[in-house]
Amino acid sequence: MKSAILSKKDIYCGNLILVNERYSFKNLTKENFVPADSRTPSILIKKDASNILELILEKIGARGKIIPVSGYRTFDEQNDIFENSLKENGEDFTKKYVALPGHSEHQTGLAIDLGLNKEKIDFIRPGFPSEGICGTFRTAAPDYGFILRYPAGKERITGIFHEPWHFRYVGTPHSKIIEENGMSLEEYIKFIKNYSFDNRYVFSHNNSNAEIYYTPASGNETEIFLPEKAVTQVSGNNIDGFIITVWRNTANE
Ligand code: DAL
Ligand code: ZN
Repeated sequence: MKSAILSKKDIYCGNLILVNERYSFKNLTKENFVPADSRTPSILIKKDASNILELILEKIGARGKIIPVSGYRTFDEQNDIFENSLKENGEDFTKKYVALPGHSEHQTGLAIDLGLNKEKIDFIRPGFPSEGICGTFRTAAPDYGFILRYPAGKERITGIFHEPWHFRYVGTPHSKIIEENGMSLEEYIKFIKNYSFDNRYVFSHNNSNAEIYYTPASGNETEIFLPEKAVTQVSGNNIDGFIITVWRNTANE
């Protein structure tokens, strides 16, 4: 068995960080962002998320039909959006659709608002119908690592109203597990805490297994255990620990 040492700040980094009204985004590392789509060069997200987004749009023939509307936002940009919305739309609307500055997923570079490409696109609530090419995107997204972050019926858990246009990159297999079990990201982060190194959650797909488990952070340095001979990924949960994903190829075992 191998092990690795993680520091406290690692809790606040990675594809699985939960950012919502309760857990703010801690901007601890300098990130590089890239255009979400080469057609909209000023709308940025993290590189992995951008590559995967372009792949989905290409695969389903949606390039130019679905376009990025809003990606990475600084704290100040989120603050301006929040303040402007308060003035223009009032408090009720703003609380439903705009996260408090410091508490927006857009600050992570892992979230993207997408809209059906047309002449007028609403910035806060872009049109993203459940049918047609947008419906195709929504169905395909979890196969590639994106989830619909604010689903209908989960408003009390996410703290945000249904946003058909807002997608969050969490990576596979997490996106598949979340989708197949009808969970919100809040519920998934809680669910995965039931699993540990000795009792891993197993997700099987084609010829590979993903094993997922949680390790709580302890003080400034946390030792995590990793199986030998496997590709592993680690993400903080932005609360109190780490989610470890182990990939195994089962075809030759
Ligand atoms: N529209 C989402 C909730 C945000 O402002 O981050
Ligand atoms: Zn959004």
